[in-house]
Parts: sequence; structure tokens; C-alpha cells
Amino acid sequence: MRIDILTLFPEMFESFLTTSILGRAVEKGLVSIKVHNIRDFADNKHKQADDYPYGGGAGMVLMPQPLSDCIKHVLSQYREKTYEKKTKIIYLSPQGQVLSQQMARELSKEPSLILICGHYEGIDQRIIDRYVDMEVSIGDYVLTGGEIPAMVLIDCVTRLIPGVLGSQESILEESHTAGLLEYPQYTRPAVYDGDEVPQVLLSGDHERIKRWRRQQSLKNTLKKRPDMLKKASLTEEDYKFLKELKDSE
Ligand code: ADE
Repeated sequence: MRIDILTLFPEMFESFLTTSILGRAVEKGLVSIKVHNIRDFADNKHKQADDYPYGGGAGMVLMPQPLSDCIKHVLSQYREKTYEKKTKIIYLSPQGQVLSQQMARELSKEPSLILICGHYEGIDQRIIDRYVDMEVSIGDYVLTGGEIPAMVLIDCVTRLIPGVLGSQESILEESHTAGLLEYPQYTRPAVYDGDEVPQVLLSGDHERIKRWRRQQSLKNTLKKRPDMLKKASLTEEDYKFLKELKDSE
């Protein structure tokens, strides 16, 4: 996958793109990420990229010219590639569709993404109308810019690309993938400061461990995110366990 980030603050991405799992994915060539400074495309003497909003009001708005030229520059690099037309242009904005695991799964199958990070009061509407395929929000709150949301999106999308994580199995069982929260995890030592790891995990009985984990997932979800149970695909046994749990409260 290729990802192009359009931002006024490229330095914010430096350690993010070179550290840990994402850093390794970039090194292995599983994902190619390029950061572009929108200001470099401003055609005025002072390299100004934003201006006051027409009609008045607080804050600054990213001007259409630098952003449009930056997008055209990125698209011209794509033109040599066959996937040019399939490139999805995403604007990170509190007005967007809220990012979910399902959306991340769909985006992880795209050959390329262009991410536009707004700042201050946002970007000129004409850019959204002309270029943007999708607006994405990371939650119902307002941040000072789209850089952190872009990092959130890149992190949760790229880890779903085959080969990025060590084991694809961990994706199948983790929170949100199966519509439930994950079961609790333990590692050595078996007794820490008097607190023991649940005996079943030391039993070596894989069937029992699987059943226990499923029950812990259900218990966790019921306690922390009961809203998720309505959409989860549950078995007869799951319903029975949940009923017992509720009855014992
Ligand atoms: N820019 C500012 N706030 C945002 C949010 N919640 N999601 C995405 N982009 C944003």
C-alpha cells in the first residue's frame, strides 16, 4: 500500500513512521509512506498556506491553491502507476464518518490513500468538493489538526495488511474484530506479588482454555461495552452463559 500525507507539520510524523511495527513495515516495503509539506506548494512569496475565513470568524483556513497543487503533484506521481484512478483521497475532519474497525478493514484493501490533514478552522470547501472521496473523524471531539487522526488511521489500517503483524491469528481474536472485547491476557510469572494466573491457562487443555476465553470475552463485553452485544454473532451457548451471568448479579 502507498500512503501520501499532506500536512503543514511534516515533522510530527518523523518518529511515528520509523518506530516499532510501522517502522518495520516501511522497512520491509509492505507499506510506502510519503509526507508532503503543503506550504512548499504555496505560490506566494511568503509561502503562506492559510488565510482568514470569508465572512469573518475565528481561526484560519487552508487556502485552495497550495493544497490543490500538492494533491496534483501526488497524483502526477501516481499517473505512472496503474492504480492512479483508485486512489482514495481522505480528509481528516471532525465532520467525517467515525473510524471503526470495519472501516479500517476496508481501507486496508486499498492500493493507495492520500490523507489531507487540516489545521486551524479547516480547509477551503472547494477542495473538499473537488477532490475528497471521504471525510473521516476519529471521534466526536475536536483536535487542533488532522495529524494525530491521520496517525491513528495509518496505525489501525496498516496493522491489518498481511505481513505487518507477526501473526494474523492475533487479529482474529482481538477486541472489535469478532464483535466482542478480548479476554484478559497473562504472562509469566504464574504468581506475581501473591496474585495468581487463572489455573485454566496453565492446564494445557486447549478446549477448556478456548471456552474460558470466550466466556471472559462475553463477561468483559457485558461489563464494559454492553452495546456491542446487540451486534455480535452469538451462539446458543453464549446466550446461556450471558443469562447465567445476569441472573447471578
Ligand atoms: N480534526 C480535528 N478534529 C478531528 C477529529 N476528531 N477527527 C479527525 N480529524 C480531526
